[in-house]
Amino acid sequence: MQVQQNYPLKKYNTFGIDAYAKYFSAFTTVDELTSLITYHSPLITLIIGGGSNLLFTKNYDGLVLKNEIKGIHTIHEDEDHIYVKVGAGENWHQFVMHCIKNNFSGVENLSLIPGNIGASPMQNIGAYGVEVKEVFYSMEAFHLKEKRIINFSVNDCEFGYRESVFKKKYKDQFVILTVTYRLNKKPQYNISYIAIKEELEKINAKELSIQSISQAVINIRSSKLPDPNVTGNAGSSFKNPEISEDNFKILKTKFENIVGFPLDNGNVKVAAAWLIEQCGWKGYRRGDAGCYEKQALVLVNYGNASGKEIYDLSEEIKQSVKEKFTVDLEREVNII
Ligand code: FAD
Ligand code: EPU
Repeated sequence: MQVQQNYPLKKYNTFGIDAYAKYFSAFTTVDELTSLITYHSPLITLIIGGGSNLLFTKNYDGLVLKNEIKGIHTIHEDEDHIYVKVGAGENWHQFVMHCIKNNFSGVENLSLIPGNIGASPMQNIGAYGVEVKEVFYSMEAFHLKEKRIINFSVNDCEFGYRESVFKKKYKDQFVILTVTYRLNKKPQYNISYIAIKEELEKINAKELSIQSISQAVINIRSSKLPDPNVTGNAGSSFKNPEISEDNFKILKTKFENIVGFPLDNGNVKVAAAWLIEQCGWKGYRRGDAGCYEKQALVLVNYGNASGKEIYDLSEEIKQSVKEKFTVDLEREVNII
């Protein structure tokens, strides 16, 4: 539990931004966390997991704490479900692989999402028709000011599309310690995404299983998303914007190929990648900052881009989408 000063964060963010933390440490228990924050009070604190949804635009003038609370334990089971309690510092994909190996269903569509358990409810991670809120059961979180552990149920978390209470009214107030997921014993497959069906055919999957769905998702993701170990990135830079059906119809008269998916509330979710591509950004590169050539929603660091350069590029993209389509893009990556 050593505290380092002026510590390089390049290895701790998947964008590979060369920013520094005034102080840096890691914790594996609540006691370690408590002594770190008590000793360094009143410094501002940033909790990180895998650093796969962060963009450092400057050095961090406070204490960066990496959550390394470990453990994956089945704590309960009933006729239909298995309840697995996981430390916030465990890797998300390794947890998914643990579920696949043990035939616990519910997270197979979320295979290969980078990052750790702690951020999964914070971000309400999602992919291929599934969001973590569907398997979330409860969570233990540490209140930084009151220095006590509080339990959260699914309703307490106010989950939305890449949203939770921890990004809004409780922002920067809690450290997520453990998450308990409720997995299904009897698989309920979600292959609503055409890409999954096509990939299952391609890999000649004999029968539908959580293993084959996971493999299909891994293949699709590997074919179109940049591997952060090779090219710095933090996944989608913006959310897919939700607009009214009327607004969508108007846009459709001007841009007949616009991609939108109707939502239950009557609105339409527009593919931000399509909007960005139509503004001519896909494959664009300026210095080492760029817009990925296979997925326009992903900004990349080809080597030594600064966080500011990536941020400035994202601002220009946002601006051009607003000018061409009158649609506001909302950020998906946490700007620090
Ligand atoms: P970090 O980046 O370390 O932190 C993210 C935020 O959570 C920060 O605000 C941080 O302060 C906070 N935080 C982290 N841990 C804790 C904790 N224990 N307590 C309190 N606050 C905490 N996301 C998706 O939803 N779907 C995808 O399909 C997807 N694909 C991706 C593909 C690539 C190639 C990449 C690089 C990213 C992708 N992402 C995706 C984004 C990212 O993987 C998720 O947001 C992930 O949950 C971030 O986890 P992390 O541990 O890296 O969080
Ligand atoms: N498209 C383009 N140009 C592109 C890429 C895509 O026009 O360069 C269009 C295509 O029509 C495509 C549509 O956009 O059908 C949607 O693209 P894709 O299926 O790749 O998904 P996305 O909407 O861009 C979202 C999530 C991803 C998640 C995938 C799969 C958001 C912000 N992003 O991307 O999550 O993996 O769906 O479910 O919702 C992340 O959050 O970091 C992330 C990668």
